[in-house]
Amino acid sequence: MAETEAGHRIEAIFPASQIQARLTTLAGEIAAKKPVNLLVVPILKGSFVFAADLLRAMNHAGLAPEVDFLTLSSYKKSRASSGQVTILRDLDLDVEGRHVILIDDVLDSGRTLAFAKDLISARGASTIETCVLLEKQVARAVNIEADYHAFTCPNVFVVGYGMDVAHRYRELPYVGRLVD
Ligand code: IMP
Ligand code: MG
Repeated sequence: MAETEAGHRIEAIFPASQIQARLTTLAGEIAAKKPVNLLVVPILKGSFVFAADLLRAMNHAGLAPEVDFLTLSSYKKSRASSGQVTILRDLDLDVEGRHVILIDDVLDSGRTLAFAKDLISARGASTIETCVLLEKQVARAVNIEADYHAFTCPNVFVVGYGMDVAHRYRELPYVGRLVD
C-alpha cells in the first residue's frame, strides 16, 4: 500500500460502487415513507459528498426536498472528539412545522447528531429523522441511534468520501481506513 504525500497509508473499506448501490436502496426507503414538506439538512463539513450523492438518489426516487446546511464542529484538527459541539454556521431556513432529515457522515459518540437533533427540535420541526453514512460500532456517549444508515463500520478512523484527517482525503471516491 503506497504512502500518501502526508505519509499516511489508506486501505479502502467501502468502494465507490458499493456506496452508490447502497444509496439507491436508502433513497428508496426514504421515499417509500412519502415525506411531505421535506427539508434535508447535511451537517457540514464531513457529509457533503454523501449528501450530494444521496440527494441525487433521492431525486431518482421521486423526492424533491429543500436543502439547507448546518456547519458543526467537534473534532477540530485532532482525531479524538473534543466532546463539545459548536455551531460554526447556522441554517438560513426556518424549520418550524417541517419534516427534517439530518444527514451526517459518521455516528460515533453521538454528540454531534444529538446536538443537531435537539437544536432542530427546539426550533419546532414537526418530524426529525437522521441518516448517516457510517454507524460506528462503539458505545455512544449519548443515547441516540440513526433512523437510516448506509453501513455499519468497526471502530477505526476513516477518511475519504467527504471525511478528512486535518482537511485531507475528502476527495477520495471511496471510504478508507488509516493504517497506522
Ligand atoms: P460524534 O459526535 O462523536 O458522533 O462524531 C461525529 C462526527 O465526528 C462526525 O460528524 C464526523 O465528522 C467526525 N468523525 C467521527 N469519526 C470519524 C472518523 O473516523 N473519520 C472522520 N471523521 C470522524
Ligand atoms: Mg461531521
